[in-house]
Formats: sequence, C-alpha cells, structure tokens
Amino acid sequence: MQNRKCVFQTDIGNAPDTEPERQQYFISRCREWIQERTGELGRPLTCYISTFGCQMNAHDSEKLMGILLAAGFEEGNSEESDFVLYNTCTVRENANQRVYGRLGYLHSLKKKNPHMMIALCGCMMQEPEVVEKLKKSYRFVDIIFGTHNVYKLAELLFDRICSRKMVIDIWDENRRIVEDLPSERKYSFKSGVNIMFGCNNFCSYCIVPYVRGRERSRTPDDIIREIEGLVRSGVVEVMLLGQNVNSYGKNLDPPVSFAELLRRVEKIEGLSRIRFMTSHPKDLSDELISVMAESKKVCRHLHLPLQSGSSRILERMNRRYTKEQYLQLVERIRHAVPDISLTTDIIVGFPGETDEDFEETLDVVKKVRYDSAFTFIYSKRTGTPAAAMENQVPEEIVRKRFDTLLNTVQEIASQNCGRDVHTVQEVLVEERDVQEDGWMTGRLSNNTIVHFPGSEELVGKLVNVYLDEARGFYYMGTLVK
Ligand code: SAH
Ligand code: SF4
Ligand code: F3S
Repeated sequence: MQNRKCVFQTDIGNAPDTEPERQQYFISRCREWIQERTGELGRPLTCYISTFGCQMNAHDSEKLMGILLAAGFEEGNSEESDFVLYNTCTVRENANQRVYGRLGYLHSLKKKNPHMMIALCGCMMQEPEVVEKLKKSYRFVDIIFGTHNVYKLAELLFDRICSRKMVIDIWDENRRIVEDLPSERKYSFKSGVNIMFGCNNFCSYCIVPYVRGRERSRTPDDIIREIEGLVRSGVVEVMLLGQNVNSYGKNLDPPVSFAELLRRVEKIEGLSRIRFMTSHPKDLSDELISVMAESKKVCRHLHLPLQSGSSRILERMNRRYTKEQYLQLVERIRHAVPDISLTTDIIVGFPGETDEDFEETLDVVKKVRYDSAFTFIYSKRTGTPAAAMENQVPEEIVRKRFDTLLNTVQEIASQNCGRDVHTVQEVLVEERDVQEDGWMTGRLSNNTIVHFPGSEELVGKLVNVYLDEARGFYYMGTLVK
C-alpha cells in the first residue's frame, strides 16, 4: 500500500485493498473535501460530463456520474461547472479533433473559475501519443485516465486533491471487473448493462481492440443480479452491451453462449424488453435466431453491421464473412422473425474500394432494405493494418459515394417506416416531446419513434398507440385506451 500524504488528513493508510470497498472509502474521503469546499464557498460544487462515442461510453458515463454524485457533487448543466469530465471516443479522426477544439474553451473557463477541475477519460486516452500531447501542451488538465479503470474515479480525484498535480493513470489492459459501484442512470425505466468488455476481432480499419483491450465477459450471475436490481428500481427495458455480443461467454469457465444468457434474462420477472448491441455477423448463431423468434421480450430489432457489400473489401477489412454469407444470414433471420427491423453500419472509401465494390454495397442495401443505417467515411487510424494499405481513395470520390449511399439508405428507410401505419402497436413511453407541448415520445419494439398526445405520468410505461401517420422516420399516433 502506498502511503500517500494528503493536505486535509495526514495519510490514507486505512484505505482498504479490496474492491469495491476501496472505492467506497475514496468516495467518502472526497465527500469530506467537497463538503469543506461547499461550506467555504457557500454554494454546492457542480460536475458535468460530456460523452463522445458509442453506447459503451454512454454507459460508462452513467457510472462516472454515479461516483461524482456519491462524492458530493451536484449535477451541473453545462461546462461552466467545477468538475468537467470528457469521456472521449477515437473511432474516427474527427472525434479527436472535436475534443482538442473543446479543450481550448475549457481552458478559458478554468481561468475564470479557480476551483475548476478538468478530467479526460475514454478511448482517446488509451493512445500514448494523445497523452504525450496533453502532457506537453494541455497542462491545465487535472486528471487523465483510460477505459480500464473507470471505476477508480474517486481515487484519482482524491490523488489530484492531495498532490495538486496532473494525475495520469492509464492501464493497457483490464485488470479486474469491479461490481457494485454507484451509477446514475439517464432514464429511470431503461438501462444499458455491460455483458462484456473489449474486442478480439481486429477489423483492419478499427482502433477499438487497441483502446478497449481483449474480450472479457461478465458472469451470467453478475449480469442477472444487476438486471434484477435494476428491475426492482423501476427498469423495464435493458440494452445488453458489448462490441460483439455474439461471442459473449466464450472465455468463461464453463462457457455460456449469448443465446443462453438471453434465455436467462428473459426469465426475469418485471422486465418487459431486451435489446442488445452489437452483433457481429460472423458469430450470429442459429441458436440465437431461434431464441429471438421464440422470445416475448427480445425486441424486434437487430443491428447487424455490414461495413461493405463487397466480398473483396470485406476480406481486406478482416470481417470474416462474404456478401453471400451476409445475405443468407439476413434471409434466415427474416424467415424466423418476419417483423424484425434491421439496421447497420457501413464504411465508404475503405482503401482500395473501387466503383464496382461500392456498387456491391448499394446492392446489399437494396436487397436487405435496412430500416436505418449509420454511414461513415473511412477514417485512417494510425496503428491499424488498413492505415498502412495502399490505394487510399481520393476524397472527392468518397464524398460522391457517401452521398449516393446516404440517399439510397434514406429513401428505403422512409418507405419502410410506413409499414406499420394504421395498426395498434405497443410503445414504451420515454419522455415529453421536446417540440410539442402535451405530446409524448416513445419507441416501438422495432426501435421506431412514435409521437402522440399524452401526459408525463406515462413515462416508463408500455402503452398501446394507434399509428395514424408515418412521417419518414417516425410515426404520429393516438393513445388507445
Ligand atoms: N463493434 C461494432 C462497432 C464499433 S465501432 C461492430 O463491429 O459492429 C462503430 C462503427 O464505427 C463500426 O461499425 C464502423 O462502421 C465504424 N468505424 C470503425 N472504425 C472506423 C474507421 N476507421 N473509419 C470509419 N468508420 C469506422
Ligand atoms: Fe471494431 Fe470490428 Fe471489433 Fe467492431 S468487431 S469493435 S468494428 S474490431
Ligand atoms: Fe468510440 Fe471507444 Fe466506442 S473508440 S465508438 S467510444 S468503444
């Protein structure tokens, strides 16, 4: 045990070695400090988290917010707060640029507020050159940590308070999965649940395996226990999270398949809807398709990233399926679950992509008829195999392909959205409509948004709504009594 000295109490000799007790200890020590500052300033200390990137990061941010609130901060509503944390993403270059851009703004705020602390975490911090740059040119940042030690925020904050120096703690691998720390959910009725961390796939364009480490699954018992707790506190919908949920449980002893896990989650009483993200086509089993078909709770939505429709490019991407295998998989899914809504991710302009390759992508889009698709322009990530590939595609060609793809995707999606018009569907009510007073917004099992007149006490409830009209990507409806 390190014997760190601290200004507001002599040492931390009695910090426990085991988790989560150790973090509980630091949370309460931070709390003492924050209470002292609050007393001095005559106002609460506020905190604010800005999250970039995917669902995994959004869920980490809920845990980080849980720790900050437990430590005595109040949630602020802008970067003009006393503790500002950016949870970063590095999947594409522009995500990084946005963070550097906003750091300049944070610096100007810090000059005005001497109590302000700035912390950075998330995927971008796992890149050594980013941390070097921050150490050199962004000395005003107080705390830097990565993706593997999110649970340690209170300890790092305590370190920062004691040392008054920039605290940097980046691990290159996950050493432990710490259970049972506080979390502050954005919605009371739905929640993300990590089922696994990391990725072993090494798609040749992707930086995620380098910044999130190797695959590690949580045990089914821990997952079920967490979901049961969530249900007791009012959650009716869970989103099971992992970079590749279809390879869940392979490294557990004994191994457990994702389909088996879903069967167990299905049995949890009081839980109404189960979603999951993301499925890699290469690992999607027939067992999973039949669980989806039989289930009353698994939502009628599958996100199945295509990336490219050209088998030649898919091979260079190291995706380990062909165009034909992907289309056959879609057919099997549609056969078993006819009302399923399919969404996808597609990259345009991967090195060496020709017009013919791009036509193959359009062909798959037209055959599968996705309900929506996230389309990305290929971004070169240093250190990945694709970054070293020749034949990077010129920007103006990529732009043109991107526009063609987006138009095709949007046209098909808006045609699809009309599918359920003039039927009654079950809607989980999510929030007050931001645009129209007296209206509510909710989601169908297939993830489509529905707006309908209603009142706020419906939030978190499953209601039946008649879909009067389809408007491109959403429906307008009427509550059925
Ligand atoms: N694990 C998920 C995706 C995680 S990243 C999966 O395999 O589907 C989310 C999406 O970002 C990917 O599906 C891919 O379409 C996109 N992406 C990843 N790396 C990229 C890069 N270098 N350039 C452009 N898009 C990228
Ligand atoms: Fe990246 Fe591929 Fe892993 Fe998805 S499966 S996170 S795209 S390496
Ligand atoms: Fe971005 Fe990290 Fe997610 S790089 S997409 S936040 S796993």
